[in-house]
Amino acid sequence: MFHTSFILETVKEVRYNIVYMKTEVIQVDQLHINQEAIAKAGRILRAGGLVAFPTETVYGLGANALNEEAAAKIYAAKGRPSDNPLIVHIASAESLPVIAGQIDERARRLSEKFWPGPLTMIFQKTDAVPMGTTGGLGTVAVRMPANNIALGVIRAGGGFVAAPSANTSGRPSPTLASHVYEDLAGKVPLILDGGPVKIGLESTIVDLSVPVATVLRPGAISLPMLRETIGEVQMDAGLGSESGEVRPKAPGMKYRHYAPRAELMIVSGNQRAVTREIQRLCTEAHEQGKRVGVIAAEESCGDYDADCVRAVGCRADDAAVAAHLYDVLRGFDHEQVDVIYSESFADGQFGQAIMNRLLKAAGHRVIGTEEG
Ligand code: TXA
Ligand code: MG
Repeated sequence: MFHTSFILETVKEVRYNIVYMKTEVIQVDQLHINQEAIAKAGRILRAGGLVAFPTETVYGLGANALNEEAAAKIYAAKGRPSDNPLIVHIASAESLPVIAGQIDERARRLSEKFWPGPLTMIFQKTDAVPMGTTGGLGTVAVRMPANNIALGVIRAGGGFVAAPSANTSGRPSPTLASHVYEDLAGKVPLILDGGPVKIGLESTIVDLSVPVATVLRPGAISLPMLRETIGEVQMDAGLGSESGEVRPKAPGMKYRHYAPRAELMIVSGNQRAVTREIQRLCTEAHEQGKRVGVIAAEESCGDYDADCVRAVGCRADDAAVAAHLYDVLRGFDHEQVDVIYSESFADGQFGQAIMNRLLKAAGHRVIGTEEG
């Protein structure tokens, strides 16, 4: 009895084990799409394989969403916990009823306004979607990306592509094909390189499987934009919870994530006070023999006496800050720093999303400044 189950376990392990393979990288121009590359991606996906491709938010690691074994390969390649469900990407709104049930007026309005685009909606799932794609949940997350390479890949792959961000679990999401290569070379046969992504932070996730629409992950589509379209929308109570008492509803939001290898701390308050405090912390760290990194706006990056200062964008241009944040976080992994201090970037359409990712990267370590 024991012997049989042991053998079954072993077989399963072998089947889902990562097979190391050669990774091909093909450059694809969004405006003149190389159809051969798209067809190749489609063949791999339909045969149950993995393809990494650009979307407007971050690079995705795709597999056929309706094929449980294909979806399982995503978890293996990323080292992703199996209870963390995948987003299913579609290329046309007509595909939605195949995988989602109880599509209501809110969904119709949101999809009309924001699809294709950086908005993921959660619905009751249909039987077409295997539990292996939804991490065992009865709901399914769906998104139609605004990127022609992604849309081409989804169509060529059969219309339903499960795609988490194409990073190793726990690392910052990839905003360049080179980030994908860094994490997944040898684990995926094909990476389509469409250049830098446009937005740089993952899609907004809104749960429509509940009576009051609820944001489970902030992104480029902000809370005011959602409210203007469908009325009542709330933020998931677990999002702001530093104590971990209230769990975020999106399973993926509970993990420490986007994290650089060095310890990261955010300094908050008005900009003058923040600059002064970070400079004081740099001096203190140097006295302790530590090497220090700083994440700052273009405007203030000259103010710090640190070992490595990285400018993330102009403070006035929150979209630029969003677009560069993950590259800056990854960049610190190549610097020999012990600790990183970051300014905070809470303003504008992207402010909530930027701070959500920074706080997670920092494990919610925030240093407040008193000065008003
Ligand atoms: O912008 C994006 O959404 C990118 C690109 C590639 O499209 N994808 C992405 O996927 O960010 P991923 O797997 O890295 O993040 C998906 C998040 C996770 O936090 C997961 O827990 C949550 O969505 N999620 C997926 N399905 C869900 C469901 N049915 N209920 C609640 N949360 C869900
Ligand atoms: Mg991710």
